[in-house]
Amino acid sequence: MADIGRLLDLLWQDYMALNRQVRTVRGLLEKEGETVVNDHIALRTFDDSRVGIDALAGAFVAGGYQACGEYDFVQKKLFACHYEHADPALPRVFISQLKLAECSAGLRQIVAELLEQVPADLPGRWDFPVSGRTWNVDYRTYEVLADESEYAGWVAAFGFRANHFTVLVNALKTFDGLAALNAFIKQSGYPLNDGGGEIKGSPQSLLEQSSTLADQVPVDFTDGPHTIPACYYEFARRYPTADGKLFYGFVASSADKIFESTDRR
Ligand code: NI
Repeated sequence: MADIGRLLDLLWQDYMALNRQVRTVRGLLEKEGETVVNDHIALRTFDDSRVGIDALAGAFVAGGYQACGEYDFVQKKLFACHYEHADPALPRVFISQLKLAECSAGLRQIVAELLEQVPADLPGRWDFPVSGRTWNVDYRTYEVLADESEYAGWVAAFGFRANHFTVLVNALKTFDGLAALNAFIKQSGYPLNDGGGEIKGSPQSLLEQSSTLADQVPVDFTDGPHTIPACYYEFARRYPTADGKLFYGFVASSADKIFESTDRR
């Protein structure tokens, strides 16, 4: 068991290496004099007991994280949990999973074949959350999955790794709120996911979020490389609850639209 800091660092390094826009946007913010604080990290998986939320959360729980909230996404057939660490400096972890029982028999069959390729010892390993894709998959199979569930296609193509990190807007000094940050991101050449409006949520719901559209990256499928949407960068502004502490949960109706940042367009 390596320490939790090493796992979080590996997740960040893997995410930065895969997504050029993240390196660029982070660099632009630092050029403005900002120190970027990560609000949360999100991971995706299937609700099979070998690799589901409980399995994927294992390394985080072993590192001191605790389950804090549950969320349902009926239309996307997703369920999610968020985890918090006693050390408030560590980002929250948001893990979602696709409810396979609600998907077609064809999708379930494909996912079963992918999961059979997962090494048996992988789910118990401390670096499982950053192990990437541990199966062979061809581009046509990816398309079949993504046509039914963009989420399933993404997991099949990218496997176990950070789907996104999120900048905590409250910790920025030179931007007066999320709208100002959004304007800066767009001026820098990165379009935002405007499904449901650029800003999801409101001060009343205690959380405002926005996100870029995912980078297009070449992925090696068994039949050669194809360019598909990878990861996006998210921005979150949190508001205090009645007791004066920042709300650290999530808002399902907002997250629902954010998931679409990795859709093929
Ligand atoms: Ni998020």
